[in-house]
Amino acid sequence: MARILIGCECSGTVRDAFEALGHEAWSCDLKPDERGSNRHIIDDILNVIDPANELIYGKWDMLAVMHPPCTRLCNSGVRWLKVPPPNRTLEDMWRELEEGAALFDACLNSHIPLVAVENPVMHKYAKERINFGDVEPFYVQPWHFAEAEDSPDNEKKRTGFWCKGLPKLKPTGKLDGSTARNSVHFASPGADRATERSRFFPGMARAMAEQWGAVA
Ligand SMILES: C[S@@+](CC[C@H](N)C(=O)[O-])C[C@H]1O[C@@H](n2cnc3c(N)ncnc32)[C@H](O)[C@@H]1O
Repeated sequence: MARILIGCECSGTVRDAFEALGHEAWSCDLKPDERGSNRHIIDDILNVIDPANELIYGKWDMLAVMHPPCTRLCNSGVRWLKVPPPNRTLEDMWRELEEGAALFDACLNSHIPLVAVENPVMHKYAKERINFGDVEPFYVQPWHFAEAEDSPDNEKKRTGFWCKGLPKLKPTGKLDGSTARNSVHFASPGADRATERSRFFPGMARAMAEQWGAVA
């Protein structure tokens, strides 16, 4: 079984899906794990994937970065690069764009042989800053992995994956999207809005563990 690192995840959703299939899966985030797992590293992902830290963190067979800090990379937020949100400056916006793009680039181009980085559709300023090599993204919807109308995956949220050494995810659900909810778009304003909008979907996590775990 493989050693798998799930980056930028504090919910444990993807980590636990891989663990359920017998992999040695760890999550890593700047924040503590919400489930109190002892398979969670609180550190900068860049430290955890740095080969110089292999004696501390060991060798990874696969890296999956689940929704890195993407607010400044995704198309839906491109307007903030022209007019910043209240109490923020344009300098903040462009600095955060540089940081977000550098993090994405470092993960995609890490030395780990199998890599998947998830992100919504990106704007051109983000794309210009990332070295994708020959990696083309593929896009899926959570409802592609929903077992039933009332399952948590029966949602609309276009989700992109940039992968190295891993195949496109195949849908595992039977629904056609007509009953899919749009809770992500309509999440109520508040401090937890960004976290709620970026929470990962369990059916999609299971599909990743089954389909990518088989490769790892
Ligand atoms: C948009 S949220 C993704 C949440 C994730 N989908 C989940 O279910 O837990 C981005 C996460 O990246 C973490 N993060 C930001 N920069 C990081 C870094 N340099 N290293 C590790 N985690 C980081 C944040 O703390 C946050 O939890």
